[in-house]
Amino acid sequence: MSARIISGVDVANEIRKEIKRDVENLKSRFNITPGLVTIIVGNNPASVSYVTAKQKTAKDLGFYSIQENLPEKVSKIELLSLIEKYNKDEKIHGILVQLPLPHHINEKEIIYTIDPNKDVDGFHPVNMGRLVIGEALFYPCTPYGIQQLLIKNNIETEGAEVVVLGRSNIVGKPIAMMLCQKAKGANATVTICHTGTKNLTVHTKRADILIVALGSPKAITADMVKEGAVVIDVGVNRIGTTPEGKARLCGDVDFESVKEKVSAITPVPGGVGPMTITMLMLNTLNAAKKSVEG
Ligand code: GUN
Repeated sequence: MSARIISGVDVANEIRKEIKRDVENLKSRFNITPGLVTIIVGNNPASVSYVTAKQKTAKDLGFYSIQENLPEKVSKIELLSLIEKYNKDEKIHGILVQLPLPHHINEKEIIYTIDPNKDVDGFHPVNMGRLVIGEALFYPCTPYGIQQLLIKNNIETEGAEVVVLGRSNIVGKPIAMMLCQKAKGANATVTICHTGTKNLTVHTKRADILIVALGSPKAITADMVKEGAVVIDVGVNRIGTTPEGKARLCGDVDFESVKEKVSAITPVPGGVGPMTITMLMLNTLNAAKKSVEG
């Protein structure tokens, strides 16, 4: 059996069409254009490519978008005051500071300074806390994208054994919290595995839905998954360059072997990645809508 390939590109395009229509409505009815500022510090190649893609998508969807490029050596005070400026700017509904930040800047302090109502990444502790109690204002973009991929592909989460590999604040913890809520597209039995987990394979082989966010190329092999499982690969690993000079990417899952055993799998690239950017746009649109509704 060869697995169904879950296309993040197709689902993302479907959602982007809906966003574009809503943006036009918001403009014509309320004269409001969703505004997004993306802030990048330094020139880490992966961060530059993510932020460029976010800006391009924002423009394609008709958003008002600003990119702030700060030098690697920028002071914490300068970055904080830029965030304060956009917290007050009524034309900006979403503020995104691309992570990771250079070591001399405390990421927590930066995230805590973003107005929770403009925190379209969903990383502020207020938003994380709200998510845990089932009252989310914004879902972090990658977990939100994963949940939408499952819903739009009719993958049943109700009562499913979901195993999440990785406990990051950006992916592992929030997706686990989202999928255990008593809600549509959730209500799963969730296990989180991490570097302290003993005998990883015991857990991965139990998974009906395996969500892999380890940051380790091709770490999950066919012998580690259950026949017929659904595999969501969140990994984006750079393993050299293509003849055209672009980064060559692979996931955390050994796609070629695992796809022969499971029922559905996301590819890298073209799986979770396009969904992450799309959910950022949806969060920004929703922030703009809330600014009208009050
Ligand atoms: N770095 C890796 N993923 C993300 C993300 O979703 N948001 C931000 N701000 N930085 C990231």
